Amino acid sequence: MTERQTLQQTAAGRRLLPGSVIGVLGGGQLGRMMALDGVKMGYSFVTLDPTPNSPLGQISEQITAGYDDVEAARKLAEQADVITYEFENVDAGVAKLLEEQSYVPQGSKLLYTTQHRLREKAAIEAAGVPVAPYREINSLEDLQSAAAELGLPCVLKTATGGYDGKGQAVLRSEEQLQPAYETLAVGGAELVLEKFVKFACEISVIAARTPSGSVKSFPPAENVHVNNILHLSIVPARVPSDIQLRARQLAERVAEGLNAVGLLAVEMFVTEEGELYVNELAPRPHNSGHYTMEASATSQFEQHVRAICDLPLGDTTLLSPVVMVNVLGQHLEAAVQRFGEHDELAESLGVVPKLHLYGKSEAKANRKMGHINLLCGDVRDALEWVEKTNIWRQD
Ligand SMILES: Nc1ncnc2c1ncn2[C@@H]1O[C@H](COP(=O)(O)OP(=O)(O)O)[C@@H](O)[C@H]1O
Ligand SMILES: [Mg+2]
Repeated sequence: MTERQTLQQTAAGRRLLPGSVIGVLGGGQLGRMMALDGVKMGYSFVTLDPTPNSPLGQISEQITAGYDDVEAARKLAEQADVITYEFENVDAGVAKLLEEQSYVPQGSKLLYTTQHRLREKAAIEAAGVPVAPYREINSLEDLQSAAAELGLPCVLKTATGGYDGKGQAVLRSEEQLQPAYETLAVGGAELVLEKFVKFACEISVIAARTPSGSVKSFPPAENVHVNNILHLSIVPARVPSDIQLRARQLAERVAEGLNAVGLLAVEMFVTEEGELYVNELAPRPHNSGHYTMEASATSQFEQHVRAICDLPLGDTTLLSPVVMVNVLGQHLEAAVQRFGEHDELAESLGVVPKLHLYGKSEAKANRKMGHINLLCGDVRDALEWVEKTNIWRQD
């Protein structure tokens, strides 16, 4: 704890008023956008990240060291009044050390739960929220009997470490079981088999919870992936309003059931019949919540700062329809070029494009370099802009 902190003790948590220092494990774009909003509110930031001049390090103090560097973690704890993280695969040992030496309102338990698909599903079910039918897989025999029980198609996933569709395989025929098992079970990796959900669309809801227990959610985003990477988030999601409401209630229930603090992103499948199944969770700001930066009364990043500091949560009203489109390495040049010119197309469609770039030095293919929030009167106009610019034409 530093002398600068302005702190009030509340029943359940510590209220950290503006002037406090927020330490962030990880200096990527999520931390950067958290700081862009947090600094506006009067907080200051310090990050621990192994890459010098990280996206967050460019706009805050940075301790450059590995995440497993205990001395560096101790330094972060000394400088910060409160510690948060911007990615999920924080080493549980480091998280625990920080919890002992500093104030980590999110705790290490939520991380421990969401780092493992089986623990995560059990926790979601315990909160009374449905997930797609699944089985734990420890051998090829397990896989064969589970596939027979659930019925193909199914999705086989590693229990830990998967992202952007990596570490999973869709199984459509019995012949695919053994090769998929052998590919994914390397080194004795734990696996989970899920029933393939024939979803009408995918949505996500971001909920926030404070240490004092208040909970608020944002309107659902409808998510479109390309090559398993998020491409578009469309808000309002094109699903009936009663389903949107139910999705928000489920997300809030999961946040409460898991005693989450800070943001919890809840990914869901919506079936043709209007059923909702939770797919996975992320205990942090989420790519599908970037739309809130201009389209909502409070952004997900401000909400996260409010939640971990135990301030009253902000209003989550949607101020305008919006489409968020990701700018990956292969889109960067064309997107930046376009922003240097008068955009007649946007003007004629009544679309207002807001560009966000993350300050990453190398524009590799499929690397998230930034995003554009397209404020609009109707999401169809924003989708037409995405289509007609040709920047995101499939290659
Ligand atoms: N059980 C399932 N049924 C149908 N599609 C699925 C299922 N599980 C995953 N998918 C598809 O694969 C994508 C990535 O899976 P997900 O579990 O979210 O892993 P990741 O950690 O890579 O995001 C999902 O967004 C969805 O499109
Ligand atoms: Mg996912």
